[in-house]
Amino acid sequence: MTIVATPQELKDYLKDINKSIGFVPTMGALHEGHISLIKKARQENEIVIVSIFLNPTQFLKGEDLEKYPKKDEADKQICKLSGVDILFFPHAKDIYSEDEVSLQAPNVRGYVLEGASRPSHFNGVLTVVMKLLNIVNPTNAYFGKKDAQQLHLISLMVKQMFMSVNVVGVDTLREKDGLAFSSRNIYLSKEERQEALKISASLYQAGRMIGKNILDTKQIVEKMREILEPLEISYVEVLNRDFELIRHVEISNTIILVEAKVGSTRLLDNIWL
Ligand code: PAF
Repeated sequence: MTIVATPQELKDYLKDINKSIGFVPTMGALHEGHISLIKKARQENEIVIVSIFLNPTQFLKGEDLEKYPKKDEADKQICKLSGVDILFFPHAKDIYSEDEVSLQAPNVRGYVLEGASRPSHFNGVLTVVMKLLNIVNPTNAYFGKKDAQQLHLISLMVKQMFMSVNVVGVDTLREKDGLAFSSRNIYLSKEERQEALKISASLYQAGRMIGKNILDTKQIVEKMREILEPLEISYVEVLNRDFELIRHVEISNTIILVEAKVGSTRLLDNIWL
């Protein structure tokens, strides 16, 4: 595995490589969920590139940028063992300059759900993803479906900016008891981890209701909120895959999303139906 630190070095390295490239952008603290993205990239491409860049612009003031888990050596090891060809590990000064051009998330879909409580978050995500895609110029780029709104907005950016990369959404990986893998899970105490299971339980319940042909989204959301009690809920929403609110579940075109606070940790999860 080759480790590359600057955008120019990576561009030079890739100049004469005429192979399909699968790209997995990350912020480090890699877990099973990331490994499943890397595996998929490995299956579908000749070259696999992973980036580790803790992007400061997607954190709002007072958020967990400083305490975000850093596991550089373990991350390198995971990449090596997962068959990554190139690890791109840039410093912030190589990605950002003083006076920046930046991207603005769409006015509606960028400022609901996650974007409502974190207003400039998706501007930072889209800006850094655009930069990384331009540096790597991959054939396919892999993102987890757990961050459904992020995946939706990145797909929208790629379409609206006429970019040629193929964006691939990868299913959420869960622990045996249902908790979705997330870098933030390490903040949870033993008791909080148990409480956090209410999130996947509420989604499973929604799945069961839909299985019984209960498609009224108001009824589904009410039941989910009951299960989530007493967690502090940021949102429980049922949307179609264009991220529009729907009143009835549309089979094969619905995402149910939850964000709730467990202790001081915000966790998101969803199911795609
Ligand atoms: O999902 C993440 O880890 C980040 O938002 C991403 C896509 C790597 C951009 O910093």
